[in-house]
Amino acid sequence: MEQPEVLITRDQIRERVAELAAQLREDYRDKNPVLVGVLKGSFIFMSDIVRALDIPLGVDFISVSSYGREMESSGEIELLQDLKTTVKGRDVLVIEDIVDTGICLNFVLHTLHQKKPASVKVCTLLDKPSSRKNPVKIDYTGFTIPDKFVVGYGLDFDEQYRYLPDVCFLDTESQS
Ligand code: PRP
Repeated sequence: MEQPEVLITRDQIRERVAELAAQLREDYRDKNPVLVGVLKGSFIFMSDIVRALDIPLGVDFISVSSYGREMESSGEIELLQDLKTTVKGRDVLVIEDIVDTGICLNFVLHTLHQKKPASVKVCTLLDKPSSRKNPVKIDYTGFTIPDKFVVGYGLDFDEQYRYLPDVCFLDTESQS
């Protein structure tokens, strides 16, 4: 299997996570927020953010269906796993690994708003604005990246590469 090229090193990620956590700590101190991780790609970022935050908070997860290339244009997507926590009146912070087309995040935000939380904000490790199809407001961004396929630090290609400690470019052409 081809070794992907590093885009963002583990040290850069660690530094940025600390910066984001410092900002989030200020914004969410005394709010006891619920952090909602969007499975599966966010699980490593989520665990690093939670540990770096060091404030009282709840965690929960939501899962939505993946979609193939042909489904991106139609935006078809469905809820696979809903929250177990009641978030009515709570401050919710959505944790994403990457916002690409924005279809997934839009669906997640729509689902969450129906639960009448006090607030909903979004924190994503990676933002790829050049691929956006559904406009979406992101409140906290780790890194803005170019329009290339990335893996590692929780992100996969066909369920591979999630374990890589760095965020890497993957030449998907050479994988098939
Ligand atoms: C990825 C990623 C985001 C979503 C972003 O999840 O984790 O949730 O796609 O893409 P979008 O902005 O184009 O909607 P994926 O469906 O690959 O599932 P995974 O997290 O389980 O790998």
